[in-house]
Amino acid sequence: MNSFPLEPDRVQMSTMGNLVLAEVMDFIDRLPDRPVSNDTDPRTTNELVAGLLTPPPEKSGDLTALLGQLRRAADCAGEAGSPGFMAFVPGGGIYTSALAEFYTRAVNRYGGLAFAAPAFAALEESVVRWIAHEVCGLPEGSGGLLTTGGSMAAFSAVIAARHHYLGEELSDGTVYVTRYTHHSLAKAARLAGIRARNIRVVSCTKDLRMDVAAAAEMIRADREAGLRPFLLVGSAGTTDTGTVDPLNALADLAEREQVWFHVDGAYGGFFALTERGRDRLAGMERADSITLDPHKTLFLPFGTGALVVRDRARLAAAHESTAAYLQDVDSPDGLPDYAHVGPELTRENRGLRVWLPLHLHGVSAFRDALDEKLDLTSLVYRALTEIPALEVPWQPDLTTVAFRVRAHDRTAAAASTADAATQRLLDQINAKGRVLLSSTVIGGRQIIRVCILTHRTHIDRVTELLDLISSATADLA
Ligand SMILES: Cc1ncc(COP(=O)(O)O)c(C=O)c1O
Repeated sequence: MNSFPLEPDRVQMSTMGNLVLAEVMDFIDRLPDRPVSNDTDPRTTNELVAGLLTPPPEKSGDLTALLGQLRRAADCAGEAGSPGFMAFVPGGGIYTSALAEFYTRAVNRYGGLAFAAPAFAALEESVVRWIAHEVCGLPEGSGGLLTTGGSMAAFSAVIAARHHYLGEELSDGTVYVTRYTHHSLAKAARLAGIRARNIRVVSCTKDLRMDVAAAAEMIRADREAGLRPFLLVGSAGTTDTGTVDPLNALADLAEREQVWFHVDGAYGGFFALTERGRDRLAGMERADSITLDPHKTLFLPFGTGALVVRDRARLAAAHESTAAYLQDVDSPDGLPDYAHVGPELTRENRGLRVWLPLHLHGVSAFRDALDEKLDLTSLVYRALTEIPALEVPWQPDLTTVAFRVRAHDRTAAAASTADAATQRLLDQINAKGRVLLSSTVIGGRQIIRVCILTHRTHIDRVTELLDLISSATADLA
């Protein structure tokens, strides 16, 4: 094949584009039947990795050969977008978002300051406003930005809370999470200069929700000790079990105590698009800031998170920064400079990859898909509660079902035998490569999690999952 110049002509663009498109279509065709977990043998993996770690050549390469290399690299991976991927928090990867991203990269619109591409800034801002107002129910004056994921959203949220309540004196600021709060929140707090020992882990009630009375008591005791409580974190869907904290009660507490209330809706936030989700997430709209992850619950490819805040000015106050060489920048009124509400200056426009799927498929397509996942989860929950050998301790709030092998009695020995059996059960369910579940530890006990969240997971694969669990449980007996 010919080599291609840095600026190809239309024929060359088409040749390259068609080759890549064919490869992508093949990939998506193969995806549902590929093993969910990475089944590449270690020797092949080592060879592939060694081959890809080499520096680029001086002379031009061959696109077909390079795409062959990419295919082998892509196949050497777990399939997080597979209909059978129900481990961790799945990531779908819808095609239309990938197309939007291709377009975004091709036109390469600067996304840091609105003056550079005002209409593209408006397009991104329409997505942010939709999330803030329509999805989360935040009032006028709210706003935010699209980030690369939930962790970065949490980071900017903590920075805003810290700036608002602590100013520059950080040493006595305290933060309140639970053991089930995603670790990115504690990490964000530490990165924001909060002492690790000032990150308080509030106890939970039996249903794994933050114990609001315990949080209130901790805040009171910390104030009495001369510390400055400034940030209370509620989860709108924990990673372990998808449990939603009592958001209204936490909002009351935050209001009473004058602390920032952040809701981590990286997993659960977009379920507010559904009626059931809105009920379960009641109180989220009272937060000072909310994380949502389009790359989880809108099925987008990895790399898109969102932070929305009740008062956009507070986010801006924490991030604002300027320099003489930016004096010619004059952004149009009413459009945001994302560089002034987040840590990055140069950034890609992140709007189109959300905007195009939303406008092309319509919001109802996403609402229906999320409703379907809630239905499938209820089905799994009911089916598992009917298997006597299993224990399903918590009714799911969202789309995660947690279960384990039932212990014969309440002794430590029985718990340990049941834990070992739970691990064997997990291995057996995953062994065929048709589904992938993951595990966690709750209350010192092994737990298997089913998290249903890719747009490709439908009743057929869930039925297969239930058959696999039934027969693996029978084998165990
Ligand atoms: C509840 C929750 N919050 C935050 C995060 C972090 O988001 P990200 O991985 O996009 O940085 C995750 C990731 O799984 C999550 O499940």
